[in-house]
Amino acid sequence: MSKCFYITTAIDYVNGQPHLGHAYEKVLADVVARSRRALGEGVFFLTGLDEHGQKVQQAAQVAGKSAQLYCDELAGIWQVFVTKLGLTNDDFVRTTSARHKEVVQAILTKLHREGHFYQASTEGFYSTKEETFVTAKERLPDGSFPASYGEVVQLAETNWYFKLGTHQQWLIDHIESNPAFIQPDYRRNEVLGFLKNNTLEDLCISRPAARLTWGIPVPFDPAYVTYVWFDALVNYISVPAALGDPTVLGALQLAIGNRQSAIAAWPADAHVIGKDIIKFHAVYWPIMLKAMGLPLPKQLLVHGWWQKDGAKMSKTTGNVVDPVAIIDDWGLDAFRYYVVRELDIGPDGNWTDAGFAARYQAELANGLGNLVNRSLSMLKRYRNGVVPARHDALSAEASQFAHAAIIALRESRLQDALVETWKLVTRANQYVDQTAPFKLAKDPAQAARLDEVLYNLVESCRILAVLLHPFIPGTSAKIFAQLNLAGAPDKLALAAWGGLQQHHAIGEPAALFPRRDQPKA
Ligand code: ME8
Ligand code: MG
Repeated sequence: MSKCFYITTAIDYVNGQPHLGHAYEKVLADVVARSRRALGEGVFFLTGLDEHGQKVQQAAQVAGKSAQLYCDELAGIWQVFVTKLGLTNDDFVRTTSARHKEVVQAILTKLHREGHFYQASTEGFYSTKEETFVTAKERLPDGSFPASYGEVVQLAETNWYFKLGTHQQWLIDHIESNPAFIQPDYRRNEVLGFLKNNTLEDLCISRPAARLTWGIPVPFDPAYVTYVWFDALVNYISVPAALGDPTVLGALQLAIGNRQSAIAAWPADAHVIGKDIIKFHAVYWPIMLKAMGLPLPKQLLVHGWWQKDGAKMSKTTGNVVDPVAIIDDWGLDAFRYYVVRELDIGPDGNWTDAGFAARYQAELANGLGNLVNRSLSMLKRYRNGVVPARHDALSAEASQFAHAAIIALRESRLQDALVETWKLVTRANQYVDQTAPFKLAKDPAQAARLDEVLYNLVESCRILAVLLHPFIPGTSAKIFAQLNLAGAPDKLALAAWGGLQQHHAIGEPAALFPRRDQPKA
């Protein structure tokens, strides 16, 4: 059994409906997963839901439902969302599932036995929204706390703590000697700055069951449930464990999972997460893993946050982008293309409906769509749809752009991969204008020249289908179907120039991205 490329997303709280930020992150991970498969690697792609904790318990109360029923109903909506986004996830984790809880409890038992935890009482300011004690340092001059903490109450309670003191220095060393571990670099520097300028406080890993019931019972102390983050982070290994991953099972000395069909996923190759949860993934999670005796993930790929029209998205003000409505209106591929092309993995982005419509029109309808449609239509019209002999006018450029796009995909530089790929779209459209095949077609003396031009155009379309498959799989499949090619455009090795054979008969061209003159409000 060989190790597969293992990629995860953050698991979303089920305290509401999916929004643009969730959709973006899941699409990023899906593009990486599809790219890796297209590179010929085995892939395990995991996404799912974070169902425990105060936020979910409160949302269920507001809805007047039991927490489990509330989660079950919303989980249905989120699973439909996964399908709507065209995700190729191999599993879907719910933290309320028995397979997950079993692993969380096994870890708590092991770490407790090995002396990583102690009990202590704390008195202080507590944010229920963030489920964390807030230090007095964070108080604003007027005595209040930053709004991001929500309501802050005074609380005194006894809890279980995870000792972090011995972990700070090796973590700094690990981050310094592994530049790829946290990407982009400025996020890595933020984490290093934090670790070098602060002494880590021990992590509170329990919540009193008297106050919060919606959590995984702490196996060695029934008066407590597990802190939601300790529970949630474990999803990245509980699913591999349940599927028989020998690395996880060995470290935890667990005998679960089907060894016959076991996967070898851990360590993860990439955790795709948002910038707000970096501390949990770059500090607490590595320390948890080290304490368990497990290797660390290879990379945290940290994306920024979307705003809408320059302001924070908020349900209360109605300033939201509903990804499902966009997909229903414009199509899944238009949505997937836009979010990856518009926003590089790292900085914050701003959604405007006008910006979306502009890229659709310029890049999808007039760029890619027009190229494919006119190339295939001309081959139909002038050559009855039959591919002429190979000709290599665009071969060097196409190969150069494809090569750059594939390197970018290997490095999860998704926006760069699209930029490189669009160089071929632009070049091929320019080639149509320069060679003017519609004029050549009128002059019988130019027949051989027209053959050359047509080959270069349809072959460029074929290569684009291959390069775009991870991003816009539906469109990519349509291009292959219109070219009447058997098999799927799902291996990047197919991007080599010269794949189209002479005498091959293409299928029927049809518009990929219909032009829309009036951008919908
Ligand atoms: O944090 N733009 O769940 P969550 C981009 N359950 N990304 C956004 C965003 C926005 N406007 N809003 C949220 C949690 N996200 C935990 C994770 S992982 C073991 C547990 C991203 O539903 C956010 O950064 O609040 C995070 O990566 C993901 O959506 C889930 O957020
Ligand atoms: Mg959040």
